[in-house]
Amino acid sequence: MAEKNVSKAVTLILKRFGKIPDLAVVLGSGLSQNFEDIRTIKTLSFNNIPGMKTAKTSGHPGMLKLCNYQGKRFIIQEGRTHYYETLNMRDVIWLTSLLCKAGVKKFIMTNAAGGLNKTFKPGNIMLIQDHINLMGTNPLLTRDVKTREFLDLSQIYSSKLSKAIVNAAKKERVTIKKGIYLAVTGPCYETKAEAGAFKSLGADAVGMSTIPEAICAFSHGKEVAALSCITNTLLSGREKTTHSKVLYTASKSSVKIMNIIKRVLKT
Ligand code: HPA
Repeated sequence: MAEKNVSKAVTLILKRFGKIPDLAVVLGSGLSQNFEDIRTIKTLSFNNIPGMKTAKTSGHPGMLKLCNYQGKRFIIQEGRTHYYETLNMRDVIWLTSLLCKAGVKKFIMTNAAGGLNKTFKPGNIMLIQDHINLMGTNPLLTRDVKTREFLDLSQIYSSKLSKAIVNAAKKERVTIKKGIYLAVTGPCYETKAEAGAFKSLGADAVGMSTIPEAICAFSHGKEVAALSCITNTLLSGREKTTHSKVLYTASKSSVKIMNIIKRVLKT
């Protein structure tokens, strides 16, 4: 059944979008909007993708878009399915694996995250250099036992694509922080003790997404880079965190993130 859905869904994406561009950009909480100079050529609602469990969290429109920026075609995935929505890793990585099979070669994933590094402020953008998976599960567990390999994740984030992002940010005069992203399942914001513990583990930011999709894309041999928008701070200057505040801060930074991506597309 799942296999049948995979081929049906991939065929649908190929039929709707035609030639698949190299780059897909995944926009996390509050980061989707209509960006200047980016033309939408085709859209595909998550609702119409076979096997897709829709992203229902607010700030996640649930739309796949084929876009054009100054002659460069790329895909924007507006929203994602979180583990806390369906408790099933298969659902979380569904769209990523479809895009991999359809022919996407590179992914830039984005998310909203809480800052643990005391130098981070809300609105900062952090390049994810590495991650700590504390979700208590792994997307590779969805693979058949017989075909499982013990994937080395030490190079999961592409240094080439990450460098392109850092250079693009410089050209766009967007300050870019670098750090380690830690993911938990949520759905809650951390206690003070958890935030302190995650910091002492070496994390700079914490969120509830991205790691499963990054592992999935990397396991398909794709280039992966990822950016966090720091929407709140959990250790210094902490205020009560709410989803609406997270969405508000992310939406204010979304243009900065897209300016970086536009610049990457030009290079
Ligand atoms: N914790 C976990 N996930 C988040 C946070 C946070 O503080 N902010 C945005 N996503």
